Amino acid sequence: MQLHISPSLRHVTLLPGKGLREFIKVKVVSRKLSYRMLFYALLFFTFLLRFVFVLTAVDSIDGENKCSTIGCLGKKLRPKILARSLESSVPEVMYGILDQPLGKDELEGRSDIPQTLKEFMTEMKEGGYDAKAFAIKLREMVSLMEQRTRIAKIQEYLYRHIASSSIPKELHCLHLRLANEHASNAAARLQLPPAELVPALVDNSYFHFVLASDNVIAAYVVATSLVRNSLRPQKVVLHIITDKKTYYPMQAWFSLHPLSPAVIEVKALHHFDWFSKGKVPVLEAMEKDQQVRSQFRGGSSSIVANTGEKPNVIAAKLQALSPKYNSVMNHIRIHLPELFPSLDKIVFLDDDIVVQTDLSPLWDIDMDGKVNGAVETCTGEDKFVMSKRLKSYLNFSHPLISKKFDPNECAWAYGMNIFDLEAWRNTNISLTYHYWVEQNIKSDLSLWQLGTLPPGLIAFHGHVHNIDPFWHMLGLGYQENTSLAEAKSAGVVHFNGRAKPWLHIALPQLRSLWTKYIDFSDNIIRSCHIRESS
Ligand SMILES: *[C@@H]1O[C@H](CO)[C@@H](O)[C@H](O)[C@H]1NC(C)=O
Ligand SMILES: *[C@@H]1O[C@H](CO)[C@@H](O)[C@H](O)[C@H]1NC(C)=O
Ligand SMILES: *[C@@H]1O[C@H](CO)[C@@H](O)[C@H](O)[C@H]1NC(C)=O
Repeated sequence: MQLHISPSLRHVTLLPGKGLREFIKVKVVSRKLSYRMLFYALLFFTFLLRFVFVLTAVDSIDGENKCSTIGCLGKKLRPKILARSLESSVPEVMYGILDQPLGKDELEGRSDIPQTLKEFMTEMKEGGYDAKAFAIKLREMVSLMEQRTRIAKIQEYLYRHIASSSIPKELHCLHLRLANEHASNAAARLQLPPAELVPALVDNSYFHFVLASDNVIAAYVVATSLVRNSLRPQKVVLHIITDKKTYYPMQAWFSLHPLSPAVIEVKALHHFDWFSKGKVPVLEAMEKDQQVRSQFRGGSSSIVANTGEKPNVIAAKLQALSPKYNSVMNHIRIHLPELFPSLDKIVFLDDDIVVQTDLSPLWDIDMDGKVNGAVETCTGEDKFVMSKRLKSYLNFSHPLISKKFDPNECAWAYGMNIFDLEAWRNTNISLTYHYWVEQNIKSDLSLWQLGTLPPGLIAFHGHVHNIDPFWHMLGLGYQENTSLAEAKSAGVVHFNGRAKPWLHIALPQLRSLWTKYIDFSDNIIRSCHIRESS
């Protein structure tokens, strides 16, 4: 006997031993239906009725009459199980017992609960139980199983999170190798850009791009793809902002791998004048945010202890505690006007994108006085990525949010944005951003929980100009079946999904869009065993 639960918890498959041709498969459409109820239903049908079931797509459960009790579920399923009556086989007393919630510590330290379906079956055959005892045993076993499944699921979700946010050892090696190069090799310590090109950094006749990243190889792919596809690379200025620990590796890499005639600047945050001038709201906010997060919902142990919640929700809450979502690299874009006081317009790029076309036409887009040129994320083929409205990010049960915003307003994406810094300087966008970050902290993160996009959506509200989706195709790294042809035809592709192209979990067919900008025969790349196929 085997039991299999799909990761989405939407399919439960029960295979009773080899040789038996009977099997049960139930597809649940409603998310409202707990899988504990499914277990019960399945076990009923197996043990009590003993016939062959193939139940698929129990759509009716999702309909108007939602089932909240076992009895109701049994009745709902019955018509599909041949024509036999279920009521006669399942005594009401069992429904009653199975619907009772189990006491908190009822399973604690008990050794008489069957651990597997096989054990349960054996015990039932030998024990001569009546319906009530059967139901009690069943409930205990299923609850025990459910507890174990929960823990395993939470671990699985967290593992996926860790897999996507951690740095693989090859990239770690690269950073160490480059830091070493920086210390020992003068050619890895060049001033970037060289002195004669410094005037270009503040010259508004150039195309200025800004990239904030702590990942050297990712930054390099963005930079190479940008420069190689540019029709006038000599007019391209790329400002790379990084953090203190990545500064030396980043500088070493771009010293040894120049992209001339484009102008590349590498700067750590602490090198910016504005940053060293005392009060920096973004750092203060981050510090407070981190404090609140560590206490959020009583900290990680009480989040896990909340058994009423689905494993993916628990995992999401634990993720909210993760410092990754609070990285200064993510928050810093709200201070672009202060970081680049002499520039009028810039294009801001995330480090998980690849440029596939000349981007200078972005400067010709009439922004209509708006500050942020971005793609909308509520219309498009890909229903998973392109169904984002304000309600997807903000908590509209909260009066502060529902009073001010429309839940159905389309959201937009970070990743490839045109920022008109001149227009921005005439607004209070950065202030608004910090005001709302503060409100969220004060309300114990109940306005939103993850990331820097939600406060961005609020701060840029009314200041966004929609640009053609050609300029920013999102959603790579979410699903296997993103079409390569479609991705190839986009101006910029964004691996905003979990399967980043530099990770082992990258999707092989899409990875080539990224790897084609890396020279795998490069000595440093080779010495860290970074390979074309992962
Ligand atoms: C920005 O905020 C200040 C102070 O709150 C206010 O006086 C000013 O009118 C605001 N400017 C804009 C453009 O909203
Ligand atoms: C949304 O806001 C409501 C009202 O303040 C609050 O009770 C609820 O917990 C919030 N939801 C989340 C997920 O924080
Ligand atoms: C991609 O696959 C998912 C599930 O694997 C499916 O739901 C979706 O419709 C597919 N999308 C396309 C465009 O084929």
